[in-house]
Amino acid sequence: MAKRRVLTGITTTGTPHLGNYVGAIRPAIAASRDANVESFYFLADYHALIKCDEPARIQQSTLEIAASWLACGLDPGKVYFYRQSDIPEIPELTWMLTCVTAKGLLNRAHAYKAANDINRDKGEDPDAGINAGLYMYPVLMAADILLFNANQVPVGRDQIQHIEMARDIGQRFNYLYGGGTSWDRFGWDEKKWEEEGEKFFVLPEALIEDNVATLPGLDGRKMSKSYNNTIPLWLPEKDLRKAILGIVTNSQAPGEPKNPDDSHIFSIYQAFASAQETATMRRAYADGIGWGDAKQKVFERINVELAPLRERYEALIAKPGEIEDALLAGASKARALAQPLLARLRDAVGLRSLRSQALSDVDKTKANRDEKPALQPVVFRGEDKAFAFKVLDAKKNVLATQGGFADPKAAMAAAQVAMSSLAEAQP
Ligand code: TRP
Repeated sequence: MAKRRVLTGITTTGTPHLGNYVGAIRPAIAASRDANVESFYFLADYHALIKCDEPARIQQSTLEIAASWLACGLDPGKVYFYRQSDIPEIPELTWMLTCVTAKGLLNRAHAYKAANDINRDKGEDPDAGINAGLYMYPVLMAADILLFNANQVPVGRDQIQHIEMARDIGQRFNYLYGGGTSWDRFGWDEKKWEEEGEKFFVLPEALIEDNVATLPGLDGRKMSKSYNNTIPLWLPEKDLRKAILGIVTNSQAPGEPKNPDDSHIFSIYQAFASAQETATMRRAYADGIGWGDAKQKVFERINVELAPLRERYEALIAKPGEIEDALLAGASKARALAQPLLARLRDAVGLRSLRSQALSDVDKTKANRDEKPALQPVVFRGEDKAFAFKVLDAKKNVLATQGGFADPKAAMAAAQVAMSSLAEAQP
């Protein structure tokens, strides 16, 4: 059986924090070790340009994120690990997809609409300050995904709509250009085309990991760059401890029994600890562990896991040239996969060498499809409750009709026979 392809992108605008580690890096690396999975992880630096115009920050973030994934154990020999901007096939596909994407689909994207709403609330033009990159974001993301025929895309809930758009766009392209033998087999049956037609693109699914922990941040809300409540992943030990001691707690005194299920400190501990360690910590809460001690335990538990990774990170980040080489090698491996598909796509849409003069079969079937069908079968139930068919021409004149069939299938089969003899009889 073919391996499942799992692909995800990481936008290169920030510094990795503990929430990224628990929610994305750690589970993704664990998943990449599954022998039935082919993993694609890439640094979405074209996406970063949409919201960040600080070149130094994009470069620094790319370095830090790449080093983080490698330090945490991603094996670039086993997965596809690359930088989006090293794959020219991605922007090329983006344009092809742009040309089959309904503008109205992009108007409905949540991120774009949210930006419109903010402007409206301020009494400004709805598009004030919105660049076309933000508007096109879903198409670029569809290209990322469709170029590699990904089956599953692990993302947060806020990205589900983008995956649905990638499906819509891929399906549209498949339908418009996926001619060839499908036409003969399915004719006008659009549903069959979608289900079984000759395809360029696999339609991806969002993979929402509900049992991956979301880590609370310093203020107890989900740890996120947009809430400014993060703890950077690679803080030196001393600073990590200080940051953890700064997490908000309630004012219960040492000795008072505490409810672990109502404590951010406990959730953070749980995200790192084994089931057994967690059970022990639960008892400590019931026994009234003080917040200072509880935080110290959290620090120690996190640090045990991160210390060896931190050492690798420091070593990697000191040699950016080696990370660069790993990314370039990843890109050439990924491009080797992308190029044959892109060649098919170019041919399909008509970006072709002039040496190949003949129209392909796909074009002929497309030309057929754009004509109205001359004859059309209709199956209905007669007054005697038996099934019947009519064959209509383009002006809805009835050219043939017959009743008395036991089921609709038999009526349709007879209609097809009648249609082919009518078609032969026509000049
Ligand atoms: N939009 C994603 C995010 O903000 C990043 C991303 C870009 C991505 N391209 C992708 C994720 C393709 C999955 C697949 O998180």
